Amino acid sequence: MNVLVTGATGTIGSTLVPALRARGVTVRAMIRNPDRPVPGVENVVADLQDPASVAAALKGVDAAFLNSPSAPDAAAIQIRFANLARDAGVPRLVLLSQYAARVDSPVRFLRWHAQVEAHVRELGFEHTVLRPNLYLQALLAFAGTIAQGWFAAPIGDAAVSAIDTRDIADAAAAVLTGDGHGGRTYTLTGPHAITHTEIADALSVATGRAIAFRDVPAGQFAAALSGLLPPWQVDGLVEDYAHYARGEAAEVHTSVADLTGRPARAVTAFARDHATAFIPA
Ligand SMILES: NC(=O)c1ccc[n+]([C@@H]2O[C@H](COP(=O)([O-])OP(=O)(O)OC[C@H]3O[C@@H](n4cnc5c(N)ncnc54)[C@H](OP(=O)(O)O)[C@@H]3O)[C@@H](O)[C@H]2O)c1
Repeated sequence: MNVLVTGATGTIGSTLVPALRARGVTVRAMIRNPDRPVPGVENVVADLQDPASVAAALKGVDAAFLNSPSAPDAAAIQIRFANLARDAGVPRLVLLSQYAARVDSPVRFLRWHAQVEAHVRELGFEHTVLRPNLYLQALLAFAGTIAQGWFAAPIGDAAVSAIDTRDIADAAAAVLTGDGHGGRTYTLTGPHAITHTEIADALSVATGRAIAFRDVPAGQFAAALSGLLPPWQVDGLVEDYAHYARGEAAEVHTSVADLTGRPARAVTAFARDHATAFIPA
């Protein structure tokens, strides 16, 4: 079996590639920079913005995993990828979406993902949708302040069933290689709904240092991010966090265990395995 992995250098792709190899799959990693190939597998240089390169990358694969970067045109580039996969006769597409994707969501990312899901359904070839909740690994982007003892978000004490991205990769590997998943949508969550204070507590235990969570108003959160991210992304993250703060992302689903045969990793495992990232150098 030959599987094309998009975003092969990214958070999920970099874990999915070895997970597929462990299952005896031949992996074709889609990368942009030929100077940074993914080791041990076939690499194909393609850009989601360049349809001809994507069409070439899709040739002859048995399945494709579509994970697009967060981008203002994410829906359009994913829809184009799906069309090209259909045209290339790819038998199976696994689409990375997001928990609570809905065309009428107030969260732009959830609307964009829902538009892609709806389009792929219309195309009528075998596909499976994975809808992961908030990534625990997203905390790594804040490792600098966490190493100083704190992190902040506008979420109050709302709980979120945040997930370790290693579990998303393992679930994706199971769906890409197994039968009976066509037409299914799996919501992927961690094993518990946890507050950000509980995340801070897990990081404190794992690092042996005091790490505190600070609830902050959305405006303060946006101001802190505004020099680092473009405005559409800051606004989208504020919408994401308002959705979490409303308690809309707290359901726990068993899909990770159902697909992989073992329970989803807890925040304590995430904190233990990434502790060094949260300790000052
Ligand atoms: N963060 C969360 O909590 C969360 C939760 C649920 C769902 N999601 C979804 O996860 C997706 C993004 O994941 P992420 O932010 O963790 O990103 P990521 O997968 O870690 O990184 C983006 C990957 O896409 C590649 N890439 C970027 N632009 C590309 C292009 N034009 N053509 C081909 N490949 C390109 C990058 O390759 P290079 O090495 O070349 O840059 C990298 O491998 C989004 O759809 C988001 O909605 C995120």
